[in-house]
Amino acid sequence: MGDGTMDVADTGLPVEPEHQNLFYALFLSIYLTTVLGNLLIIVLIRLDPHLHTPMYLFLSNLSFSDLCFSSVTMPKLLQNMLNEDPSIPYAGCLTQMYFFLLFGDLESFLLVTMAYDRYVAICFPLHYTTIMSPKLCLSLVVLSWVLTTFHAMLHTLLMARLSFCADNVIHHFFCDVSALLKLSCSDTQVNELVIFIMGGLILVIPFLLIIMSYAQIVSSLLKVPSARSIRKAFSTCGSHLSVVSLFYGTVIGLYLCPTATNSTVKDTAMAMMYTVVTPMLNPFIYSLRNRDMKGALGRVFRKKKTLFSL
Ligand SMILES: *[C@@H]1O[C@H](CO)[C@@H](O)[C@H](O)[C@H]1NC(C)=O
Repeated sequence: MGDGTMDVADTGLPVEPEHQNLFYALFLSIYLTTVLGNLLIIVLIRLDPHLHTPMYLFLSNLSFSDLCFSSVTMPKLLQNMLNEDPSIPYAGCLTQMYFFLLFGDLESFLLVTMAYDRYVAICFPLHYTTIMSPKLCLSLVVLSWVLTTFHAMLHTLLMARLSFCADNVIHHFFCDVSALLKLSCSDTQVNELVIFIMGGLILVIPFLLIIMSYAQIVSSLLKVPSARSIRKAFSTCGSHLSVVSLFYGTVIGLYLCPTATNSTVKDTAMAMMYTVVTPMLNPFIYSLRNRDMKGALGRVFRKKKTLFSL
């Protein structure tokens, strides 16, 4: 590792110099919206006892994960946009990669947990509270953390083995595993194999579990089709399904349409989609369409007002 720093190339964010300020303002507002939106969800769920149900506790975990996920890349990206000669220390780069993987996977595991929760709620409505006990909920969250910590650690340790030679310019806007592998002058076969296998497991298994949950939900709805049960299923699963489509849509789009030519712009745009846009949209998807969340907002603010008028 030459001088111990990685230069983050300007090609990482293909922006014309005259549009730099515009993009800076855009990303800053996206980041602030993400932080405030997700914080609002966490605080609302914490404050309103009506929302202390498994579904909302998982949602609060998802918001926490979104908040951290965008804080891994956005502040550094914003700082680099102001910097003439953007760079990141080697250790900082590995740390960013570790947390990027950690919160990215956590998101994927939490989406599975939430799908399982909806499956139990719709297919076994009478046993819902006994099955989704606080103990099971906590275990599912802890399991997600353990798996994702292990996975992120594995990739980071494998990356730390590699040596980097002359060209240490990252053609990306953050320290992404694949962008770093392209720079290494060691043999990266083991890394690529592990990425292929673990990436498959971490993305495909959760995706299949979610599809299975929804298949069960649909088949249970079709057994006794009634307008009321279908409406109820839509209202409780709609938000989750939108978030899942957004998350897996971008990730699958990225991996199923491999770039034959070295199209950095397209890669960057897709990576932007899931690192910047998805964490911002999740709170809106959940709160705008959701009567419980709006009710909670009303209740929390009313309570504050009476508190102040005392
Ligand atoms: C995450 O979920 C667990 C289990 O449901 C819950 O106890 C915890 O409060 C949640 N954490 C956050 C930050 O919402």
